[in-house]
Amino acid sequence: MTKIAVWCRHENDCIIGIGPKIPWNIPSDLQRFRRITSGASITCGQTTYESFPNRTLPNRQIYVLTFEKDYEVSDKQNHHVVNDMMSLKDFAEPLYIAGGASIYKLFMKNLAPEVIVDSCNHNEIDKSLSGNPVDIKECIEKMEKDYSKISPDYEEDNVTTTVWVKKGEFVPQEVLKHIINSIIN
Ligand SMILES: NC(=O)c1ccc[n+]([C@@H]2O[C@H](COP(=O)([O-])OP(=O)(O)OC[C@H]3O[C@@H](n4cnc5c(N)ncnc54)[C@H](OP(=O)(O)O)[C@@H]3O)[C@@H](O)[C@H]2O)c1
Repeated sequence: MTKIAVWCRHENDCIIGIGPKIPWNIPSDLQRFRRITSGASITCGQTTYESFPNRTLPNRQIYVLTFEKDYEVSDKQNHHVVNDMMSLKDFAEPLYIAGGASIYKLFMKNLAPEVIVDSCNHNEIDKSLSGNPVDIKECIEKMEKDYSKISPDYEEDNVTTTVWVKKGEFVPQEVLKHIINSIIN
């Protein structure tokens, strides 16, 4: 399987959230995420799952990481509880890693995604939100060390998106084509 991390982080400080929220509202960023993951399987932590409107994202299989054995998902047919992240190691299809910070960090450390879609937001973040800033600096450092940038810079609404592939990894062309087409469309 190919594992693909998809994130949008703020430039320099690598913040992706404040408390449970994403501290910006950029519709094109959400639309890009939707296009990339629509019809596919995604995995996310329980906090991020709870932040989805009505705890769902239509037209996707969602694998929710939680330590809670009896965690109740909102849609038993399409959402699945995962207590052991290593069970996702041999996932049969492309699996999109959708955050939050703890899940990006876990995957980058233990189950290195073959592909990263790195969106870097150059706009101001909303500092009025309450809660602690959540950053993924360590993921960006690892990306810059262990991955190669294989795409040009795609600019939209002052967000730069690039695609990175883990050095030495084979990634099926159809996966990369789908990602690039989803970014530019
Ligand atoms: N900008 C972006 O691209 C982006 C994308 C997604 C999220 N975010 C932001 O990221 C922030 C949330 O990140 P977060 O780190 O606080 O929360 P999170 O990663 O979404 O979820 C954390 C939860 O995941 C579960 N978990 C963690 N490690 C696990 C493991 N090894 N096995 C099984 N379950 C595990 C635990 O759930 P239990 O407590 O239920 O056990 C934990 O509380 C929010 O601000 C959100 O808006 C930003």
